[in-house]
Amino acid sequence: MQVFNSKEKISKAILALKAKNTKIGLVPTMGALHIGHLSLIKKGLIENDVVVVSIFVNPTQFDSIEDLKNYPRTIARDITLLETVSKDKIVIYAPSVEDIYGTDVSSAKFSFDGLEFEMEGRFRHGHFDGVGTIVKRFFEIVQPHNAYFGEKDFQQLQIIKKLVKKYKLSVNVIGCGIYRETNGLAMSSRNERLTPEQKEEAPFIYKILQAAKNKFDTQSANKVTEWVTKEFAQHSLLELEYFIIADAKTLKQVKRKSNKKQYRAFIAAYAGEIRLIDNIALN
Ligand code: PAJ
Repeated sequence: MQVFNSKEKISKAILALKAKNTKIGLVPTMGALHIGHLSLIKKGLIENDVVVVSIFVNPTQFDSIEDLKNYPRTIARDITLLETVSKDKIVIYAPSVEDIYGTDVSSAKFSFDGLEFEMEGRFRHGHFDGVGTIVKRFFEIVQPHNAYFGEKDFQQLQIIKKLVKKYKLSVNVIGCGIYRETNGLAMSSRNERLTPEQKEEAPFIYKILQAAKNKFDTQSANKVTEWVTKEFAQHSLLELEYFIIADAKTLKQVKRKSNKKQYRAFIAAYAGEIRLIDNIALN
């Protein structure tokens, strides 16, 4: 398994791969890998000759120092896990903060035509500037043909598509479905930090999303949102941050339903200090 820790070294390896016409896929991650991440990597391995997996906890996309500090870092375990998938077709890029940012650990400012002001952008200040900065940098360094992102972070996926369009970057952005535990909980690196009790209660989030989907067939977005808010108010371990039914393209909150549009429900909730997000297609 090749593991690169510096831009210089991986750039050389990429040049050599490109010289041999190798098709390169990229799966950017922040590590603490789980089966959800692996599903992106496996798709990448089918569609490319080599998959670069970046493992980097990107400081500029965190709006809370505590969250950044507590984010799980399990690089040795991540490498072992990736080796079970492929030893020769996966290349790991695990840079240091300095390798990526030098001494100026800050993000560029982006406009994503308003996508950045909704949901995660509203509740996590500067988050998408940080994501845009790091993903654009990885695209420049790795020069992938294809890059894989999960619908688990649906807003992020839409924003990366916008980034590629705006900057005319030559990479295909491929969205991948949400991988869940058998109890429905969306897999996330943050799940590792849940207490056993919180872990037991967290699948409530997906149950609510499924029920909201059913209700949305016959009820207005407002009515469904009211119902979800009430359900969470009665829950002792989970605190709702937002529940929004939005147009899947613009990510703007639905005012009046139209049967020509695609809708999605988005949720963010806290289990203690752990912030969990999930979403579901409604039609
Ligand atoms: P991270 O949370 O590590 O996720 C890396 C990729 O895995 C993202 O595209 C995310 O949507 C996807 N993913 C995570 N859990 C998933 C699941 N249960 N099912 C399917 N896909 C899942 O997202 C980030 O890192 C960062 O913001 C990053 C893009 C790497 C930029 O720093």
